[in-house]
Order: sequence, then C-alpha cells, then structure tokens
Amino acid sequence: MKNIVKMSDLTNEEVYALIERALELKHGAKVPPRPDLYVSNLFFENSTRTKHSFEVAEHQLQLNVINFEVATSSVNKGETLYDTCKTLEMLGCQILVIRHSQDAYYKELENLNIPILSGGDGSGEHPSQCLLDLMTMYEQFGRFEGLDIIIAGDIKNSRVARSNYHMLKRLGAKVRFVCPDIFEDKTLGEVVDFDEVIDQVDVCMLLRVQHERHDHKMGLSKEVYHNNFGLTKERYAKLKEGAIVMHPAPVNRDMEIASGLVEAPKSVIFEQMKNGMFMRQAMLEKVIKDNHL
Ligand code: CP
Repeated sequence: MKNIVKMSDLTNEEVYALIERALELKHGAKVPPRPDLYVSNLFFENSTRTKHSFEVAEHQLQLNVINFEVATSSVNKGETLYDTCKTLEMLGCQILVIRHSQDAYYKELENLNIPILSGGDGSGEHPSQCLLDLMTMYEQFGRFEGLDIIIAGDIKNSRVARSNYHMLKRLGAKVRFVCPDIFEDKTLGEVVDFDEVIDQVDVCMLLRVQHERHDHKMGLSKEVYHNNFGLTKERYAKLKEGAIVMHPAPVNRDMEIASGLVEAPKSVIFEQMKNGMFMRQAMLEKVIKDNHL
C-alpha cells in the first residue's frame, strides 16, 4: 500500500507536486469526483482542524464517508486498532484517515490492504500539517531554499516540529528552535535565544504547549513562558518586512502568542487552516491514484 503516514513516505518531487496541486485547487481547479469510494476517519485523539478539513476534502471528492466515533465503537470493549481497521476494510472502506496517540501506530497496520493517511501519531509525525505548512510558506515565498525559520514551543512533544524540521532541511531551509530546556529535543537542531534571531527570520512558527502530554507540571507560569518563549507584541514589532507568523493551532492564547497577534497582518494562522482543506484534497487524490483505486 502507498500510505502517507510520515514525511519520508514522500520524495521532494512528490512534495512539490502536492503543493502545486493544492494551490491549483485553491485557485479554482476541481478534483474529479469519486462517489464509488468509501473512506473512514478514525480519530483516537481530539481534533478540530485535521478531522473536519479531511471531512470537507472528502466531500469535495464526493467520497462516501463512513462515520466512526471512538466513544461509541467497540474500542471501548477492548477491540485492537488492527481489528478495528481490518473490520472497516472488510466492510468496504477503501481509505482510512487515522489519528492515534501511539507513536508509529501505523506499523501495526502493515497487513491492511487499504491505504492510510495519518492525521498524526503521538509525538511522532503530522504529515498533513507539515504539507499544509509547506504550502503556506511556498505561497508566500515561492521557495524553501535559504529560508530562515524559527520553530518556538514544545518541541519535544511536537509531531509538527519533527515533520517540519526534517522536511524543511531536505528542501534547503535553515531551521532553528526556541524552547525551554524541558521541551528541547536533542536529536533535532540548534536551540537559540528568541531575541537574538527574531529580526532575521522569514518564518516564525509557534507550537502549542501540549499540557496533555506532560506527566509533570512544566514549572513555568503562563506569563514566564510567554515572556521568554512566546511571540510578544515587542517581538512581533521586530519581525522583518515579509516575515510570516505560523501556528498549527489550537493556540494557547497569551502563551505561545499574544492573543491580539493571532490575526495580525503578518499572521497566516487562519490561512494555514484554509490551506489544509486543499492540501488534504490533494493528498486524497494522490493515494487514490497511487493505489489504483
Ligand atoms: N493542527 C491540528 O492538528 O489541529 P487539530 O488537533 O485541531 O486537528
């Protein structure tokens, strides 16, 4: 099966093709309808953007969407992830969109005969978010080569940080991090002082502090975090002309970013969400084509 569950599933050429296609769709192109196909969205973790933008994308392709709600399913009777997914395959589902709290959950699903699009695996990767982020940057700059990107936030727990870091490096961007020591991931790139780089960056990407993944208190108040690692009004004022502010959302307002900046002129946060709908149409179209569905 040709899945999209991590960014290494895609070559650079495939990534550029997805971006170009998503931009075409944004500018009015239509996806060929496939009312003969069945898809199901399995979200074992909460979601607003990923789940609903996949749903909108599926409706754009006129796919049959089989409603699956974890809370009312037999998952609560002990059904395994594999058994749930295999059941949906046997019922005629031809594509699964899955978000799960377990890192690399998709390794358990290698015996399925239907493709998977991942909506995020634990602290692993978030490929559809990475692709919509790339689309948003490409829309603004028309390139990745040489872009100076700072990613500020809960790096250790962030699947967005991991997907974006590796992919942006592959595409020739410079990526550095801002975070407190407890959120550092030493397997990723250099950590720098926010105030030393804020006036140089093309992209200031903020990531959510993932309180639900912390097994102990972070040890920093909201105010202390915001002043040291967040986008304050003072830091925003130092951004160079043409720089953009990104956040995958949901946002902890006044923590990662001052609430009044979420829709500031340099912020593309809500545009990222809109772009997600087009990117997810392009991803669905690609798995349908690659798997000869
Ligand atoms: N950015 C993102 O993944 O948002 P949701 O958790 O709402 O899907």
